[in-house]
Amino acid sequence: MRYNFDAPVHRRGSGSDKWDSVAEDVIPLWVADMDFAAPPELTTVLSARVSHPFYGYNQRRPEYFEAILSWYREQYGASLVAADILPGSGTVLTLGMAVRAFTKPGDGVLIMTPVYAPFYRVVLENHRKVVEAPMVPDANGRFIFDRVVLEESLDKAAALGITTPLVFFCSPHNPGGRVWAKPEIEAFLDFARDRNLIVIADEIHGDFVYAGGNGGSPEQERGGFVSTVLCTDYADRILTVSGANKSFNLGGLHVSHMIVRDQKLRSAITPELQAGFHREPDVFAELAVETCYTQCKPWLMELKPYLKQNLEEAAAFLSDISGVKAWVPDGTYLLWAGIQGLIARGGCKTDLELVSRLEQEAKVKITPGSLYGKAGAGYARINIASPRKLLLEGLDRIRDWAKRR
Ligand SMILES: Cc1ncc(COP(=O)(O)O)c(C=O)c1O
Repeated sequence: MRYNFDAPVHRRGSGSDKWDSVAEDVIPLWVADMDFAAPPELTTVLSARVSHPFYGYNQRRPEYFEAILSWYREQYGASLVAADILPGSGTVLTLGMAVRAFTKPGDGVLIMTPVYAPFYRVVLENHRKVVEAPMVPDANGRFIFDRVVLEESLDKAAALGITTPLVFFCSPHNPGGRVWAKPEIEAFLDFARDRNLIVIADEIHGDFVYAGGNGGSPEQERGGFVSTVLCTDYADRILTVSGANKSFNLGGLHVSHMIVRDQKLRSAITPELQAGFHREPDVFAELAVETCYTQCKPWLMELKPYLKQNLEEAAAFLSDISGVKAWVPDGTYLLWAGIQGLIARGGCKTDLELVSRLEQEAKVKITPGSLYGKAGAGYARINIASPRKLLLEGLDRIRDWAKRR
C-alpha cells in the first residue's frame, strides 16, 4: 500500500466542522467529509504554492480545463470539450444559480426523496416550492423511484397552481447510495423530456462506485456509474454538477464545475454566473483541482477498496445490533441504516431523538434520516470514511448503548 488510511486522525482545533462542532469525547460519523489526509501529491503542490507568497488575482489556466476533460475521459468515458465546462465554487451554490435561472419565485422544483438536505434548502431559500416525489426502498434497502409517483407529484403541484420547470437528480444517490443503472437513468430522462423539465444532475459522489472491473460493458467497468454527460440524446435539458470536492476530500476549498453540453442551456445559465461575479478562481482551489485530477488518481484507487471494506464491516456490525438493519450501498461512503427497532427499544419517538441521545449518551454522532425528508424517518446515515479502528470504535459505542436498553 502506498497510502496509509489507517493513520490516526487529529483534526480537533483545526476549525473542522465535523470535529469541532461536537464535544471532545464524541466520535463524529456524520457530515460527508473523510477523515483521511489529502493525497500527499496535492500537499506537495499546494505547499510549494504557499511558499510563493503572492496570492493576487489569479487567471483560469488551460490546465484546469484539460485536467477536468481528462478526468471525464478516463473515469466516465466521456469526450467533452472545454466549452462544456462552467467552473464553479460549490455544488450547492451552483444548484441555487440553476434554481434562479430556470424557475421563477413561487415555482416548484421536483426532488426525489429522501435526499441530501440542501436540496430542500436551496429551493426554499430562493423562494421556490419543494415538490417531493418519495422513493421507497426494496427488500435490500435500495431506493427505487417510480414514474407514476413522479407524475403524480407534478400533477398535485399543478393542481395547487404550481408550475414545476426543474428537477434535481442525485446520482449516485445521497443518502441511499444507489448508483442508478442506465435503464433507470434513461427512464428518468424520458420522464423529464415528456414533462418538459430541465434536469440538474448532482454527480458529486460519482467517483465512489464499487462494482465493476470484471470485463463487462463499459459502464460495468466504470463501477456501474453512468454520468448524465453521456446521455447526449437529452443534452438539451441536462446540467451536470460535480467536482473534485468529494473525491479528494476538498470540501473546504469550495471547488465544483458544471458540465453543460448544450449551447442554449449554457446561455441560459450564464447570466446567473455573471450576476454572481464568478470570475477569477481561488489560487489554491484551482491548483488543487488540476493536481488531483492529473496526479492523485492512484490515491483514490487505493482508497476505494478501503472504503468498500469499511462499508461491508460497518453494515455487518450494525445489522448485528437488534433493531438495526444496514445495507451496503452501490456507491458513496455513506451507509443507510433502518433504526426503527432501536428507536423503540431506546424509548425514543423519532430518529432525531435517538440520534441526539446517541450523541449525548453513547458519544457518537450520526445523521438522522429525517434530515433528508419525511421519507427518511426511522433511518440514519453513517459516514464510514474514517480509519477503520475509529469507525469501529464509533459503532461499538452504538452497540454498547443498544445493549443497555
Ligand atoms: C449530493 C451532494 N451534493 C453536494 C454536496 C456539497 O457540495 P459542495 O460542498 O460543493 O456544495 C454534498 C456534500 O455532502 C452532497 O452529498
